[in-house]
Amino acid sequence: MNEIVYFDAAASFLKPGSIIDAQGDFLRNNYANSGRGVCARATAVDDMVKAARGKVAQFINADIDQIVFVSNATDGLNRIANIITRQPEYKNTSVCAVSDLEHHSARMPWQEMLKLGKISKLIKYDLDKDFNIKIDSIPETDILVVTAMSNVLGIPQDVSAIVRLAREKNPNVIVIVDATQYVVHKDIDVHAWDADFVVFSGHKIGADTGIGIMYIRDSQKYYPDKFGGGMVSRITDDGSWILQNAPEKWEAGTLPLTQICGLSVAIDELQKSRPDLDLIKYMYDELKKNPRIKILTSRESALLTFVVDGMHVLDFGALVGANGICLRVGNMCASWIHNVMKLDGSIRVSVGPWNTKDDANKLISVVNKIVK
Ligand SMILES: Cc1ncc(COP(=O)(O)O)c(C=O)c1O
Repeated sequence: MNEIVYFDAAASFLKPGSIIDAQGDFLRNNYANSGRGVCARATAVDDMVKAARGKVAQFINADIDQIVFVSNATDGLNRIANIITRQPEYKNTSVCAVSDLEHHSARMPWQEMLKLGKISKLIKYDLDKDFNIKIDSIPETDILVVTAMSNVLGIPQDVSAIVRLAREKNPNVIVIVDATQYVVHKDIDVHAWDADFVVFSGHKIGADTGIGIMYIRDSQKYYPDKFGGGMVSRITDDGSWILQNAPEKWEAGTLPLTQICGLSVAIDELQKSRPDLDLIKYMYDELKKNPRIKILTSRESALLTFVVDGMHVLDFGALVGANGICLRVGNMCASWIHNVMKLDGSIRVSVGPWNTKDDANKLISVVNKIVK
């Protein structure tokens, strides 16, 4: 029997049986490639991909041609940096603004663009004393990266207000939203956000690994960053090509079809049952009583993140792990916010729809046994 209590949903969600069944059924009974065949099976797969894309579009209030399947959030965020900086009208004198809330995957691509001379400056906007985005610090910038919810602190940021102010300062600003944690807990409305690009990973909402979403508002306008099968409608006599329309022009190569099939079911499941954040509040109230535990998140957060006085986070992780509890320790690929908090790392508890009060009680008792 698997006795593990899994409190690491924010790293990757456990997969509901319905997703495993849908993927198994697809692989066993319905598998074919998409976008290439004319037999009944191939067209049925095309229909499945279209339906899944439609589901994602509805899920975030986008149009179907704005939804691009990518490998994960990291892939989307790297591609966006490449897409923007390779546009013919783009100037490498552009300035990109980031904050200390960013995951490595959201900020490193822009540090790399700076190194390559594809942007002229990387500037930082501020966080307030609770480490939320200080909206009035949003600068005039050409490119703005916004983390809708930090994977360390778990508080939803007011993306619409941030974008509004950025557009007041520069109507042509290109806004990129990392919604990888936000999407787990909150509904997304890309119209209300008024963002240019939004990304998230499927595996953090119950889908398989290998599938992510890149929303592109002006999906027809930009020139693609990847080339190959499926994204051109015709190679012309002079050796050049005519591109497909969006979304196909963004999807060179065979799609992760099995994962797309599962993603559709994952969205249904997530909409039926989001993680129960009352469990976070319960564990917060209990762990707060332990004088050696310093909680870094607020009671209202989607995550419970803390450090233990006198114990390295890796030692803590190993000890709770030996007692059957899975949680995340370390810098969580979010070094900048840890630097701001003057910490090397922290301990993060995150919940999925499978977690129960019994799980929470087990965690509390194991932690209190280890941290006396
Ligand atoms: C806020 C945030 N952004 C981006 C990522 C990167 O996601 P992935 O590893 O699925 O590409 C993560 C993963 O932890 C995240 O929490």
